[in-house]
Amino acid sequence: MRTQVAIIGAGPSGLLLGALLNQAGIDNIILERQSGDYVLGRIRAGVLEQVTVDLLDEVGVSQRLHKEGLVHGGIELLFAGKRHRIDMNSLTGGKNVVVYGQTEVTRDLMADRATKGLTTIYDAHDVQVHDFDSANPSVTYTTEGQAQTLQCDFIAGCDGFHGVCRASVPEGSITEYEKVYPFGWLGILADVPPVSHELIYANTDRGFALCSMRSATRSRYYVQVPLTDKVEDWSDERFWADLKNHLDPEAQANLVTGPSIEKSIAPLRSFVAEPMRFGRMFLAGDAAHIVPPTGAKGLNLAATDVKYLSHALTEYYAEKSNAGIDHYSQRCLRRIWRAERFSWWFTSLMHQFPDTAGFGQKVQEAELDYLVHSASASRSLAENYVGLPLNFGE
Ligand code: APR
Ligand code: PHB
Repeated sequence: MRTQVAIIGAGPSGLLLGALLNQAGIDNIILERQSGDYVLGRIRAGVLEQVTVDLLDEVGVSQRLHKEGLVHGGIELLFAGKRHRIDMNSLTGGKNVVVYGQTEVTRDLMADRATKGLTTIYDAHDVQVHDFDSANPSVTYTTEGQAQTLQCDFIAGCDGFHGVCRASVPEGSITEYEKVYPFGWLGILADVPPVSHELIYANTDRGFALCSMRSATRSRYYVQVPLTDKVEDWSDERFWADLKNHLDPEAQANLVTGPSIEKSIAPLRSFVAEPMRFGRMFLAGDAAHIVPPTGAKGLNLAATDVKYLSHALTEYYAEKSNAGIDHYSQRCLRRIWRAERFSWWFTSLMHQFPDTAGFGQKVQEAELDYLVHSASASRSLAENYVGLPLNFGE
């Protein structure tokens, strides 16, 4: 079998890249280790920057997003018992975010791919990437017990943090930067109306909490937990009681509880691998970088990586130019590091750290106070939250 671009991974990065390439007339095949249902069973963040919405518009996969997505022009920060609204829309000259689950973005992209008859091979096992340093890379895998080879011009490693592509790069050709945080987020999804119509990010003496949503009838809530906690330690009752204790009296009164339909604990990590291009193989999305979820930048970064990549590959096929390919890593990393900085900063500001007590705690309180009372500081938060622009220049 042969294709122009072999894409490893059918998460949002791989699926959006496939859609962008297809639109540019570039043939591609996606190889995914899991089944489609498994991929759709993963619950991830749900805040889309305008840049991401624009990309979904560009590939024509945004009808449901525009119908069901919730447009938000602000967020609330809760600390010292009070909520403070950051009016992102007015602070950024009219920019908003759209609250729409990543799982739904994935579902829409999968459905579009199926409608267009584009090939995605699910349950592709033992995927291995070969000869990406040569002009003739290939990918081998096993499906339904049969060994297969896919010849291609390029390989796109969209296979997430635990994927095979980054792991196949020779040690010494790649530098990894990592920060692991001393806590996790316990998240639940429940069919109850959201406590407030905008997101509430809370920092209390009990730690971080986030009130988010998927729709007017489905809520997504998180609380900070020690890394040693197990999901089994957390009954729904315990979760609701803990969440309530993070909230201000008005939110406490508005909180509607109910049975969870999903409950999981995710550790928080910042990670970047440099560079993101190795000959004819590119890394994109979680394969190259992870942000802690505070600020929900993960999907948005994945989307802009694949925009840069599709742009570079389109330029290559249309103009026989390597310019975009040669700039891919640098272009992506500039945007990635800015989002890494923001996600690290927002995480540091909103969580209780084992060593936050005393001086650290006082500085955190002073920064939150400054943040909500200084237009410049609020604007900086707003500008990063709605997303920095996509930049094709130097
Ligand atoms: N072979 C084939 N597929 C693989 C392999 C492999 N060896 N390893 C991993 N995969 C698949 C995974 O099963 C998964 O479906 O690659 C896909 C990677 O998808 P994601 O982990 O969702 O990563 P990405 O598409 O880059 O999306 C980034 O996901 O984790 C969130 O916050 C992150 O929102 C961001 C988004
Ligand atoms: C979510 O809705 O799951 C969500 C929202 C905002 C975040 C993280 C997660 O910062």
